[in-house]
Amino acid sequence: MLFPDYRPRRLRKNPAFRALIRETHLSPSQLIYPLFIMPGKNKREEISSMPGVFRVTVDQLGKEAKECLELGINGVILFGLPDKKDAMGSGAHKKDGIIQTAIKELKKCGPELLVITDVCLCEYTDHGHCGCLINKEVDNDATLEILAKTALSHAQAGADMVAPSDMMDGRVAEIRATLDENNFESIPIMSYSVKYASAFYGPFREAADCTPQFGDRRSYQMDPANSREALREAALDVDEGADILMVKPAVAYLDIITKLRDEFDLPIAAYHVSGEYAMIKAAAEKGWIDGDRVMAETLLSIKRAGADIIITYFAKDMARLLKEDL
Ligand code: PBG
Repeated sequence: MLFPDYRPRRLRKNPAFRALIRETHLSPSQLIYPLFIMPGKNKREEISSMPGVFRVTVDQLGKEAKECLELGINGVILFGLPDKKDAMGSGAHKKDGIIQTAIKELKKCGPELLVITDVCLCEYTDHGHCGCLINKEVDNDATLEILAKTALSHAQAGADMVAPSDMMDGRVAEIRATLDENNFESIPIMSYSVKYASAFYGPFREAADCTPQFGDRRSYQMDPANSREALREAALDVDEGADILMVKPAVAYLDIITKLRDEFDLPIAAYHVSGEYAMIKAAAEKGWIDGDRVMAETLLSIKRAGADIIITYFAKDMARLLKEDL
């Protein structure tokens, strides 16, 4: 049908028509808010490269949970800053570690809020790599057992879902087996299936104090140039028992989200990462862009590309904006 018979502007002429034919919707129920938890009492520290995002102590979590639930946000993902780090990242699976304590506090204050945990060693190792080292190389198979122990300790503390972000081969299978052996067969795994070695993680590394002390993460995280490899990574995780597949970062990898959406029928999550957040915040602070509109358009683009779930530091801001629009 060609002009003048077909006029796309007919259905754009007022807000009611535009709403009637809108294809993609954002809902706070599919946003996940990341929380950084630090030792101490009664403290909130703003992260300088992520304005509006704070590291908080465990006693602040009740307030955080309440705020998320009031805004309709269904889940949080936790990152911990331990008081001590060592070569093996043993603080990651301590029974009374920072994350294990935080999980208990959150489940006490807001039991219906989903508590998801990031399973990785980089915040807990003194060298800042995501696994343990043998001859200055991150050793894949030696790391698997520590990751599985970490995931199990999170489940034992009451976590609703675990999310391995380390990029070791075989970790989903190892974690699944360990959870199942310990009667946690009903705890799902959201795997960071496709995680690129990205410069967009810069502000996060300041927030979680996990910059590698030497080298970089390119021997385990993916090369940004590759997309067929993303499908292989995701297929492995499906076979190993992942329940949700994640792509990270989000905006520079919208094509990858779409590819996974087309190829797999599992729910897809996308992590809108720290650098992506920081860029929008910085430009908005300078008055160069309308921060709220760019936020909404960006998150919408991630949904439109095919993500069901978005992990984002904007979760609360976006949920507030959605509420105002009603
Ligand atoms: C831990 C982890 C990282 C992020 C999430 N989990 C850092 C990294 O891999 O270097 C990044 C999140 C963000 O940038 O917002 N491995």
